[in-house]
Amino acid sequence: MNKKVKVLVIGSGAREHALTWKISQSKKVSKIFCAPGNAGTEKLAENVDISAHSIHRLADFVKEKKIDLTIVGPEYPLVEGIFDVFKALSLPIFAPSKGAAQLEGSKIWAKKFMKKYKIPTALFKIIDNYEEGLKNLKEFPFPLVIKANGLAQGKGVEIVKNLKEAESILKKFMQKKILGKSGEKIILEEFLEGKEISILSFIDGKTILPMVSACDYKKIYNGDIGPNTGGMGAYPPASFLNASLNKEILEKIIYPTLNGIQKESLDYKGVLYFGLIAAKSGVKVLEYNVRFGDPETQVILPKLKNDLVEIILAVISQNLSKINLKWRRENFCGVVVSSFGYPGEFKKEIPLPDLTKLKDVLIFHAGTKKENSKLLSNAGRVLTIVAKGNNLKEAHKAVYQNLNKIDFSNFYYRKDIGKIGWC
Ligand code: AMP
Ligand code: GLY
Repeated sequence: MNKKVKVLVIGSGAREHALTWKISQSKKVSKIFCAPGNAGTEKLAENVDISAHSIHRLADFVKEKKIDLTIVGPEYPLVEGIFDVFKALSLPIFAPSKGAAQLEGSKIWAKKFMKKYKIPTALFKIIDNYEEGLKNLKEFPFPLVIKANGLAQGKGVEIVKNLKEAESILKKFMQKKILGKSGEKIILEEFLEGKEISILSFIDGKTILPMVSACDYKKIYNGDIGPNTGGMGAYPPASFLNASLNKEILEKIIYPTLNGIQKESLDYKGVLYFGLIAAKSGVKVLEYNVRFGDPETQVILPKLKNDLVEIILAVISQNLSKINLKWRRENFCGVVVSSFGYPGEFKKEIPLPDLTKLKDVLIFHAGTKKENSKLLSNAGRVLTIVAKGNNLKEAHKAVYQNLNKIDFSNFYYRKDIGKIGWC
């Protein structure tokens, strides 16, 4: 494809702002739309007021505007089958099919896949109903991990310390149905101790190409304590990922996963994210995500030298084997600024402080909106601020020196992202 392309980015987080930012640097692009986008993407793209959930309206918009390429950020449209709808209309889209998206959409499906293709993962038991759950709880040691089968926006995984806690979670998921259908079936899973690594990879069905690894800080508080969030910060590459661990990940996890996808005849032209843990018993898969990670994308894309659109077009035409990923030498450190109270209850429409004091950083918007030219918060995660340095220590220092210049007292961020020794 030599003519310049019109691109649609679907989603409204800092991940989608980072994607839009990177795509805007491509020489292959004539125009970017973002649906629905946020106050950050509107500077680089035309925001379109269509929800990421409205698959058919998105397809109509793509047809009407003659958009050449659609890139999907969040998981819901993927699991709901946006790829299949677009494919039926011959609209090019960078995404896994509905079948392949089950790797994220159903934890039970993903576990069965891993078992079939001998991909290392934590020991588990599938539970279909509450009574069966109660019976099986007594057979697992504590701590124990309880996972809802379906999508739950980060609220579907609980680590419980004793039988009482376990029974209470079982009740919430399976009887009170606080997660709706997503918690009707669950998994009881062995608790693993170890360092977590995110490996995002491009995949075109024939070739899988891992990106630089990243560490994501999932817990809300400093020192990695408190409830899980969507992610409070990240840096690439994972400092503890040495050559032998990398080899183990490729041979035992990444290539066998591609093999499984091929054997199951799953149509997959997009990004596959491996959520891994380096446990004492070896590296294991905690989860698959069928999309770019957030906040990993905000720190990986600044490190990527290649034209992202060129890579994506190569994926769609199944020419990924011709791409050689190149990475900048600098290190990046990204800190998520969230609303107070997140991941629990929080207030929206809090005015953001003046961000112009931030220097030499990338500011990726997530839950922000503009009203009467004022910037207001609009979701749990509000911004990701990314700084660079010659090494991680410098990048960590630079991001916090910047954050300290601003009165973020109405917001919250962790103070230890990228601190050596953590993650
Ligand atoms: P998941 O959505 O399955 O990746 O789970 C979310 C987070 O819960 C992970 O990033 C881990 O921090 C934690 N977690 C999930 N499964 C396990 C496990 N088997 N052992 C220890 N921690 C886990
Ligand atoms: N950072 C975790 C995720 O994107 O699911």
